[in-house]
Amino acid sequence: MCGIVGYIGVKPADYIILNALKKLEYRGYDSAGISLLTAQGNIYTEKEKGKIVNLESLIFEKNKKISSYCGIGHTRWATHGEPSMINAHPHTDCAENISVVHNGIIENYTQLKKELIEKGHSFKSETDTEVVPHILEDYLKETDDILEAVNNTIEKLEGAYALAIILSGQEPVIIGVRKGSPLVMGVGDKDYFLASDIPAFLEYTNNVIFLDDNEIVILKKFSYDIYRKNEKITKQINKIKWDAAQAQKSGYKHYMLKEIYEQPEAVKNTILDKVNFTKKEINFENFDESIISLLKECSNITITACGTSWHAGLIGKFLIESLTDVTVEVDYASELRYREKFIKPNSLLIAVSQSGETADTLEVIKKYKKLNAKVLSICNVLGSSIPRESNYTIYTHAGPEISVASTKAFTTQVTVFLLLALYIARKRNSVNNEDFENYIEIMKNLPALLENTINATANMDKIAPELSKYSNYLYLGRGINYPVALEGALKLKEISYIHAEGYPGGEMKHGPLALIDENFPSVILLPKDSLYEKMFGNLNEIKSRRGKVVLFTSDSNIYDNLNDYADYIFKIPDCDKFFQPIVYVIPLQLLSYYIADFKGCDIDQPRNLAKSVTVE
Ligand code: M6R
Repeated sequence: MCGIVGYIGVKPADYIILNALKKLEYRGYDSAGISLLTAQGNIYTEKEKGKIVNLESLIFEKNKKISSYCGIGHTRWATHGEPSMINAHPHTDCAENISVVHNGIIENYTQLKKELIEKGHSFKSETDTEVVPHILEDYLKETDDILEAVNNTIEKLEGAYALAIILSGQEPVIIGVRKGSPLVMGVGDKDYFLASDIPAFLEYTNNVIFLDDNEIVILKKFSYDIYRKNEKITKQINKIKWDAAQAQKSGYKHYMLKEIYEQPEAVKNTILDKVNFTKKEINFENFDESIISLLKECSNITITACGTSWHAGLIGKFLIESLTDVTVEVDYASELRYREKFIKPNSLLIAVSQSGETADTLEVIKKYKKLNAKVLSICNVLGSSIPRESNYTIYTHAGPEISVASTKAFTTQVTVFLLLALYIARKRNSVNNEDFENYIEIMKNLPALLENTINATANMDKIAPELSKYSNYLYLGRGINYPVALEGALKLKEISYIHAEGYPGGEMKHGPLALIDENFPSVILLPKDSLYEKMFGNLNEIKSRRGKVVLFTSDSNIYDNLNDYADYIFKIPDCDKFFQPIVYVIPLQLLSYYIADFKGCDIDQPRNLAKSVTVE
């Protein structure tokens, strides 16, 4: 939540910062602001309510030609204080010599603000952030040493923060500080970047330094220094394989549509470094004897995640329990972090997160690690906080996911779970050679299967006008496809604002059936599997109550009278049960996308949401 950027170098800072903020807009978009250090050493600040384009037009309208090569910017997702121009970042000290952008929450800000007001400081906003420039203002009166003043300032702060700070009246510098919120640094040819996430500067450089908690970076025009407290440290520069084009819309109307279409390629990349098709083997980078023996011996695993990643976790449970004798629990991270639970020392926690920054998931990891449990994370963003807190990480390699609604993150996470379940089964001898090799063969063809699925269901836009009229939807699936129903319902809710609920088909009679009438449509997943007849029963129940049905069923469905039961029928390529969630979720993503697009919703940036939930 909230995106921060900083730039110092030889290019016009306003252009670079606005451009970088647009790439981070998925993190929050209720207001935005920028502070530039002018050639005269003054700070020029502009803020505006709403999206980055509003800020851009404001700067354009004022037609101020600011010649600046150093500045900071912010896109906000409000936590303290309503979305408004006053509460938008950057925030300044009394003399407006210090400008600060912040992502995170300063938990003790009320007390700090009270003390600062007593000392004579005056505040403009309702934000927690504003205490930072005022505290720093006091310390900079006592010393010329910026590092000392920043160290003293952060010593007073409780909570989570990533900060970027500029100061007027001296050699241009940007100070970056990280504790609990993401902050990465980009190393260009003649310039440096700070950002909450890599896509912000990917267009300019793919050389990245991942800052760790309690580290301070001071960026100057042609050099930088990183400190832990007062000690100067050296950090590795990582080359990121993502390229800038991956973080662009590339001709698609929305990132979400692009990311849906990218799934065959994304899944191919997930599989690439994990499966040796010649030797018919699955291997995970960095797995050592300790995790291998844990996976061989453990009797239960806990999976934790939020939102879409939690749905992938539910499928992970189904896969691991179907292929091995391990019992798996799946818990929302937001619940598990506060729940009293006996955790055996040799337990395994699997944490799933696209962004690697979700605050609740991160807290559960810390809780489990304190109790000596091992943590394996499944993550997309390289070097993000969750992999760095985990003992082991399996990367999904889905490429940057920009749209707030997760799509390729889900299919790649489920692919990892399938590979992991097969891996554990192999180690525990709970799958025979023939079956294992058969799964590997299907895996090889999975990207092509996803391509066919997209082609078979791309015409979903035709039914969007009719389906966008309804205010409520029920999504039904069974077994491994029940979490797919949950995921389909979540997609519809978050981008089209239509209420939708996911249910296992068998629960219909226990309540939800009461909702069904001609104004309450159902989306039904009816693959050809052992529960086919049972799900067919649901179709009957719904149709006899005049409910509308959108049906997703197997290509080889033998019933030719399906038209009697469903209003819209989509044939999905046949596939093995374990692969169905990866395949069936795609038409549900498309369905939500086209309904939301028909309604004219802001698909990539739905109201009230942000991509990474880095606060509680
Ligand atoms: O980055 P994470 O996977 O940890 O994010 C978890 C959820 O916030 C995320 O999946 C959210 O539910 C998406 N908006 C769903 O589309």
